[in-house]
Amino acid sequence: MNTILVGAQWGDEGKGKIIDVLTEKADIVVRYAGGNNAGHTVFIGKNKYVLHLVPSGILRKNKLCVIGNGVVVDPIGLAEEIEGLKKLRVKTSPANFVLSETAHVVLPYHRELDAQREVLKGKHKIGTTKRGIGPAYGDKAARVGLRVNDLIEPSRLEEKLSMRIRENNAVLTSLGAKPLSFKKVFADYNAAGKFLKPFVQNTVVLLHEAMLKNANILFEGAQGTFLDIDHGTYPFVTSSNTTAGGACTGSGVPPHRIDRVVGVMKAYTTRVGEGPLPTENAEISDLLHGMGREFGATTGRPRRCGWFDSVATRHAAMVNGIDDLAVTNLDGLDTVETIRVCVAYQHGNARYDFVPNDAQALAECRPVYVEFEGWRAPTDKARSWKQLPAKARAYLKAIAELTNAKLFIASVGPSREQTIFV
Ligand code: IMP
Repeated sequence: MNTILVGAQWGDEGKGKIIDVLTEKADIVVRYAGGNNAGHTVFIGKNKYVLHLVPSGILRKNKLCVIGNGVVVDPIGLAEEIEGLKKLRVKTSPANFVLSETAHVVLPYHRELDAQREVLKGKHKIGTTKRGIGPAYGDKAARVGLRVNDLIEPSRLEEKLSMRIRENNAVLTSLGAKPLSFKKVFADYNAAGKFLKPFVQNTVVLLHEAMLKNANILFEGAQGTFLDIDHGTYPFVTSSNTTAGGACTGSGVPPHRIDRVVGVMKAYTTRVGEGPLPTENAEISDLLHGMGREFGATTGRPRRCGWFDSVATRHAAMVNGIDDLAVTNLDGLDTVETIRVCVAYQHGNARYDFVPNDAQALAECRPVYVEFEGWRAPTDKARSWKQLPAKARAYLKAIAELTNAKLFIASVGPSREQTIFV
């Protein structure tokens, strides 16, 4: 069984935990898009793990974790993550972790350009994670990127890097930024390349060989549907295909080998960074931040919060072909008296039951809400569907129905045990 797991909202849906739970039945976990802009937080016992590039399957024994060709890799960040895992006694070796030789490399000029472009955009900034993701994917599309197989061959790295640094230094200095030292960048990246070389493989062939042996593959989505470069709220998006189709292009596994798509969404909505968020609401934001929840795993920024938006999640179910839904953070709503759910958008005289493509139009949309009576009881100790308050069950059923997908998991807290299979 090959499963794609995607975020059905604006990222941070709690995918890390659901991936960890589903990994139990998988042999291989594949990251297919994004870079270290992602942050997956997993709690196991008293330990908290924040993973940025390494698939969270690394936290279980006998699972092979793959970084696919669709990912952009910051090699220094990746090497640090592997060292950090070692300190937490999580072993990463070529037996349980492999890196695609055709994944693109994020370099210091990408990060610098990312930061400079945000400054130039002023009030129209995207609110990126400043990890260089946009410029790295830009270079990939412009066919001037360096790939992992360039990184691990010193003579190729030297030649390509010197050319790219020359061009990028001209741009950076014209923007008033400091030029980069080729010598330093080469030394740092060559060292990271040496460190990563044992992990590098032709992951397309590896995955196809594994499929011949009937391996179960789990594709770990990063970010969320509305941050997808094509299907998100452009330009307030990331630079990769975060949606289900990206799993195929980002790994080399063809669409007909995919058996199931699982969509993860919160019982409410959050977003970090700029861009439209129709159900954004101060009351729910204050409540969740007051509980110490909803701060970004990568940047620590407070996330913007709002009511559940079923217009958005229905759209996500359509674009990704979501079969099963995992609803997380139900416990975040435990104290709310009246819970609102957006069922349509009002834009002038028009009423939409889909997400308009134009970010400006979406920003102008007013949500049309229906109200649910809150259950006002703790759900974090519930371990079965029956143990959930009746009003919480009704809420979950309603949001799954409005989303047009089957409810599969309800999550009531960060730990593995706080997972209810419906
Ligand atoms: P970038 O991916 O760093 O270029 O950022 C582009 C947009 O995507 C910004 O609004 C970020 O806040 C958002 N973003 C990127 N990665 C994540 C994530 O893992 N969770 C939530 N938002 C993200």
